Amino acid sequence: MRTDGCNALITGASAGIGREFARQLGGRAATLMLVARRQARLEELRAELMERQPQLRVEIRPTDLSQHEAVDELLAWATARTPPIDLLINNAGLGDLGAFATADPERVDQMMLVNMVALTRLTRGLLPAMIAQKRGAILNVSSSASFLPIPNFAVYAATKAYVTSFSEALRSELRGTGVAVSVLCPGPVRTEFTAVARRKSQDEAALGPDLVSVPVEKVVADALHGTERNQPIVIPGFVMKFGMFIVRLTPLAVLRLGSRLFAKPA
Ligand SMILES: NC(=O)c1ccc[n+]([C@@H]2O[C@H](COP(=O)([O-])OP(=O)(O)OC[C@H]3O[C@@H](n4cnc5c(N)ncnc54)[C@H](OP(=O)(O)O)[C@@H]3O)[C@@H](O)[C@H]2O)c1
Repeated sequence: MRTDGCNALITGASAGIGREFARQLGGRAATLMLVARRQARLEELRAELMERQPQLRVEIRPTDLSQHEAVDELLAWATARTPPIDLLINNAGLGDLGAFATADPERVDQMMLVNMVALTRLTRGLLPAMIAQKRGAILNVSSSASFLPIPNFAVYAATKAYVTSFSEALRSELRGTGVAVSVLCPGPVRTEFTAVARRKSQDEAALGPDLVSVPVEKVVADALHGTERNQPIVIPGFVMKFGMFIVRLTPLAVLRLGSRLFAKPA
């Protein structure tokens, strides 16, 4: 689907990859609906976008996507508006670095609610109007972590495995409806993600070198290009693309051996 003139809802637009989606779509979209918790950040972004593109309509919806009622309110607003949303970018997400045995249970819930539940409910809520219009695209932001179990990042990787699997299946269900589904699976990208994922006791050195990181601008440009071309999976950057090609061909038994190198005993 061409993104020119689209009416796009972007979750997690207050930072990182989501903010960059808003910036790159700013020159092409008719309307942008920006969702995240931090209202001041969304207001700043709206001012920036409207200064650059005065004809662009930018609506902000401060929402905590880990709250069922808040997601319901967002959906009630989003499904009632005209013209209908034809591009949904399910980007909001968070991680938690460290052993599962010592994870904060609240944090684990939040990760599952934002990364999987809100993404699924927004998709279910906005899809019927896209099908009725025979026009629409859903871009789910997953991760290269979705291709393999990752010790000390266990729940995050599992939530992203859900996103990639769900997106692939939904894409098949929607064949011939005019609604496209793509999934973005980046490797490391320099955003606020690692600072949010790090536990209080962890220092920055614990995260290791960032050798394969891809600039956020390229991640988003590749993702939008992939959406427009109805690509099933977008993995930005040659090294990550090649690496994930190998990982996806590798039997689980071999991945298990590899993961022993990284897993610290709980
Ligand atoms: N950065 C990476 O290395 C990387 C790699 C692969 C995949 N990803 C995925 O890319 C997506 C974007 O991450 P990022 O790197 O841009 O991280 P980021 O800079 O931390 O941004 C995360 C965004 O999600 C929003 N968010 C988090 N919890 C939320 C909640 N409860 N309700 C509403 N919004 C919430 C945040 O907004 P508020 O805090 O204002 O609510 C923020 O806008 C995530 O799905 C992540 O898993 C990131």
